[in-house]
Amino acid sequence: MSYRITLLPGDGIGPEVTEATVEVLAATGVEFDWVRHEKLGANAVDDYGTPLPEHVIDSIRGTRIALKGPVTTPVGKGFKSVNVQLRQKLDLYANVRPCKSLPGIETPFKDVDLMIFRENTEGLYSGLESYDERHDIADSVARISKAGSKRIISFCFEYARTHSLDKVTVVHKANILKLTSGMFLKLAQDAALSYPELAFNDRIIDNMCMQLVVRPQEYNCIVTTNLFGDILSDLAAGLVGGLGVVAGANIGDDYAVFEAVHGSAPDIAGQSKANPTALIRSAEMMLRHLGETTAADALHTALVEIYTDGSFLTGDQGGTASTDEFARKLAERVANHV
Ligand code: NAI
Ligand code: MG
Repeated sequence: MSYRITLLPGDGIGPEVTEATVEVLAATGVEFDWVRHEKLGANAVDDYGTPLPEHVIDSIRGTRIALKGPVTTPVGKGFKSVNVQLRQKLDLYANVRPCKSLPGIETPFKDVDLMIFRENTEGLYSGLESYDERHDIADSVARISKAGSKRIISFCFEYARTHSLDKVTVVHKANILKLTSGMFLKLAQDAALSYPELAFNDRIIDNMCMQLVVRPQEYNCIVTTNLFGDILSDLAAGLVGGLGVVAGANIGDDYAVFEAVHGSAPDIAGQSKANPTALIRSAEMMLRHLGETTAADALHTALVEIYTDGSFLTGDQGGTASTDEFARKLAERVANHV
């Protein structure tokens, strides 16, 4: 049997890390029937008149699962982020980002084991912006719904319970944003009552940033609103080896899109310098989602081996291997474990 999955290589370093990931997945022996859509974002506009063509959405609705590379969003102008639109249109409300120390990756922070659950469809990403020309005032609405908050909070608590994690921290700014962040905090406090086996606390976002770089080991699951989750997950990535190694998944009730935390990295695009580990680990999450535990474990073991060995690492990890070389060596090791 083979899994029919939508493959969106994206742009920037996206195509390079996607090729690498497809090669490594092939070594697991699990068969995939990829439904590829190369054109997404700026490179879709010429052909389809939109950065997010309807057939891409339809493809994900059909396959239910996608593996996705990063897509560039113009800064301060231009089209609305394709990534945000995908998450909203497919109602992928849970953005799950594991930031766990990987044996072999040297960082000043030891034994970090964070799972970040970021609300993925609302908050300051709602896209509710306006400009008052008369007074030159810009507004951005952080719309947060009770239903939207409840489902990400309950996703986090259920995940913690079913994966034997021990602690949940809700991150907010309820001292200032009393209605939006305040509601999110209150709903998390209410939910915690149903999970007496889990330790629970809350932190204000600015303090949380400090706590995470001083004592990250004290935290385990973090649940928070959209923008705070975006920022905290890049920070947490920095604790465990950087954006080159941290995976992510966008999960809803019907569909799931697996993509790394990082963006299109225009500074290194097209040079075979990108570390594909982040997308490869997103693919590992996808394998687990599909129930392909043996293949996922083989991939994980091979990653630990290649990092512990240290001979074929990419530039971000202090090595000189190209994206392709890293992928080839990793694929060889994966094949040894399946
Ligand atoms: P970025 O994550 O693309 O890059 C930040 C820094 O990390 C750069 O120095 C980059 O070289 C490095 N880096 C990122 N991934 C790496 C990898 N796999 N291997 C080695 N080094 C890596 O963030 P930036 O520069 O802020 O954003 C660039 C573009 O990406 C923007 O247009 C942004 O909107 C888009 N973006 C897209 C995302 C998505 O498609 N889900 C997520 C984040 C940003
Ligand atoms: Mg981000």
